[in-house]
Amino acid sequence: MTSFPLPAHHPALVAADPELAALVGAEERLQSETLRLIPSENYVSQAVLEASGTVLQNKYSEGYAGRRYYEGQQNIDQVELLAIGRAKALFGVDHANVQPYSGSPANLAVYLAFAEPGDTVMGMALPMGGHLTHGWGVSATGKWFRGVQYGVRQDTGFIDFDEVRDLALKERPKVIFCGGTALPRTIDFAAFAEIAHEAGAVLVADVAHIAGLIAGGAHPSPVPHADVISTTTHKTLRGPRGAMLMCREEHAKAIDKAVFPGLQGGPHNQTTAAIAVALHEASQPSFRDYAHAVVANAKALAEELLVRGFDLVSGGTDNHLILMDLTSKDVPGKIVAKALDRAGIVVNYNTVPYDPRKPFDPSGIRIGTPSLTSRGLGAQHMAAVAHWIDRGVTAARTGDEDALATIRAEVADLMAAHPAPGLPA
Ligand SMILES: Cc1ncc(COP(=O)(O)O)c(C=O)c1O
Repeated sequence: MTSFPLPAHHPALVAADPELAALVGAEERLQSETLRLIPSENYVSQAVLEASGTVLQNKYSEGYAGRRYYEGQQNIDQVELLAIGRAKALFGVDHANVQPYSGSPANLAVYLAFAEPGDTVMGMALPMGGHLTHGWGVSATGKWFRGVQYGVRQDTGFIDFDEVRDLALKERPKVIFCGGTALPRTIDFAAFAEIAHEAGAVLVADVAHIAGLIAGGAHPSPVPHADVISTTTHKTLRGPRGAMLMCREEHAKAIDKAVFPGLQGGPHNQTTAAIAVALHEASQPSFRDYAHAVVANAKALAEELLVRGFDLVSGGTDNHLILMDLTSKDVPGKIVAKALDRAGIVVNYNTVPYDPRKPFDPSGIRIGTPSLTSRGLGAQHMAAVAHWIDRGVTAARTGDEDALATIRAEVADLMAAHPAPGLPA
């Protein structure tokens, strides 16, 4: 038996399975005490947590509202229609499918809808900031389709649209993905759409990382440029772990058929309910403030890091994410990430474009501001955050465990003054 604190606010869980309950309690403490800088993570609201833990969990409901393969769907249909209606209103799209289990299956459904095995597809290379599911070799999408990949320019860190156009016209992919997982700059959806149109490809905007920024008006929308929009719901959008596919009416049938019965069985109705709640929250004026604060914090943090001599891919950020190249600091990303973890600062090690090191031991770390902004930290706190990272990087290089312990205590103090949504006080 572990000695972690038992979460008293989950009495049934504590009684039924104290061992598991203790792990939940430990995770609550970890999320409460640490500065979480992983750009794909966030803190959901208590309302989202509650919706995802309801009896909707008990239902099977293969099919779509009004066209199910199971009876007893009176309430489930309403839940799903509520989520769909809110997604359509928030993003201004004709059609939304809220059933994909997560971002990767959502993207796989796009391939199923628009390509045949062996067809050419195009996306950003993983080491350049793209996602595995955009046709990268180790992914099913790169094994079952012929993935051709674009990147960013080595001298600027920005996408070279002449290169993207040349590649698209030469390779004639069926599908082009834009968006990614380590992109610190605004995505020019109009430029991608022009190229996709010229090449006769379906343009998919994978906005998993920036969906909340788009909803809050802090990043341009892919509507009306993209044919399909794919997004997770659990990053900047601050919903449960899930995904959505949105599209123009002309693609609605193909998308729905690909998700079910093409790829999935019964939707996770408790997740659909929590997505509906998150979409409602994202439609409030306070969420616009949140989205803009996420970007303002990231820009302020980038400035503070630049002042301290750090190299940032593309020289800064337009969104929630910063990609730090630690080559000039003479310490690799993995060593820094692990040292920062010991200092109570949670980041992930990451390749940087043209990285000479291996993906499992790369040159960079990836950080972001969605979680700290959810705790109410503002631009005035970013100097302290940058200072901790700076001291943490030095301590990682010199093996100074005392310095890491000092940072951990300072971080815990600031976090205690900024309680996290959804966590017990
Ligand atoms: C751009 C992008 N697309 C898709 C995904 C996949 O989402 P999931 O991890 O939910 O499968 C991610 C996850 O990081 C992502 O960043």
